[in-house]
Amino acid sequence: MSKKAVVTGGTGGIGLETAVGLAAEGWDVTVVGRDAARGDAAVARIDASAGRAAGRFLAAELSSLARTRALGRRLAAEGPLDLLVNNAGGMWVTRWESPEGVEAGIALNHLSPYVLTEELLDALAAGAPSRIVNVTSSAVEAAQPVYDEMEPPGPYYGLAATGRAKLAHLVHTLDLAERMKPRGVSVFAADPGPADTANAAAMTIDILPPAMRPHWEMIRQAVSGPVPDAARSPLAAATDPALEGSTGVVLDSDGRPDDKLTAPITPELADAVRSWTAGLLATYAS
Ligand SMILES: NC(=O)c1ccc[n+]([C@@H]2O[C@H](COP(=O)([O-])OP(=O)(O)OC[C@H]3O[C@@H](n4cnc5c(N)ncnc54)[C@H](OP(=O)(O)O)[C@@H]3O)[C@@H](O)[C@H]2O)c1
Repeated sequence: MSKKAVVTGGTGGIGLETAVGLAAEGWDVTVVGRDAARGDAAVARIDASAGRAAGRFLAAELSSLARTRALGRRLAAEGPLDLLVNNAGGMWVTRWESPEGVEAGIALNHLSPYVLTEELLDALAAGAPSRIVNVTSSAVEAAQPVYDEMEPPGPYYGLAATGRAKLAHLVHTLDLAERMKPRGVSVFAADPGPADTANAAAMTIDILPPAMRPHWEMIRQAVSGPVPDAARSPLAAATDPALEGSTGVVLDSDGRPDDKLTAPITPELADAVRSWTAGLLATYAS
């Protein structure tokens, strides 16, 4: 029987290339997105890659924590799961809020994958040895690592906001890795590196804090890499046999272990992220 994977944001960009790569390796893949037409097109590509009916599309607005939880419960009811790729996420030029009133970067890059994963932990444990892959970003390096309020005071800059939410999710990734070790579920983070996706194409210089703006042309040009190449890292985290028996590892854009993005995580920072996350979940996801 084929192994079962769920890839959020699997109907476009890096998530779709990850789903197609998994299908080529024999997996059954459920992709989650909002748009049904993109979902159908993704399933057609997944099926073609597998040479059989291997794809399925489920619609969900993942910025909504209530809808994310409902999706998780539906998937959990289907029984054991071998792989969850929390890929949906991104960066925005202009601040916006999720249906529950959470800044979207925090909702999509941290709280939504947190909630979906919690709902699926028993299914993943039932599928053990199984894996969770959280797609991260080098935007973490632009994060303001302060977690005493939902958002730091001052103007909104997409790069810094995404970096802060992804850094929080790296803290959670490491915590979850320890927690799920006894249950046979490995937890990895994968940095895909810059890629020319729909989300990347929407960026303008306004995502950058003023001090970084002289580097905008360099940054813009870097985000022109082929999208299939960016799936290398999440695919390695999902399937590389060399990772069997390990957990809590971050992979760089070449799919190699690299602790650069977790280097700023001190015990104090991890504690601050845990309290901040618990407060947000109690307010917005209960
Ligand atoms: N691109 C880069 O340069 C880069 C660099 C580093 C890290 N990353 C990370 O890689 C991941 C994928 O990024 P990407 O650039 O591939 O993004 P993308 O092209 O914008 O991803 C699109 C996918 O996400 C789904 N999606 C978007 N918003 C959603 C929502 N609110 N609810 C449900 N599904 C949603 C889309 O489906 P629908 O449109 O149908 O909803 C589609 O399947 C993100 O976590 C991002 O932070 C990207």
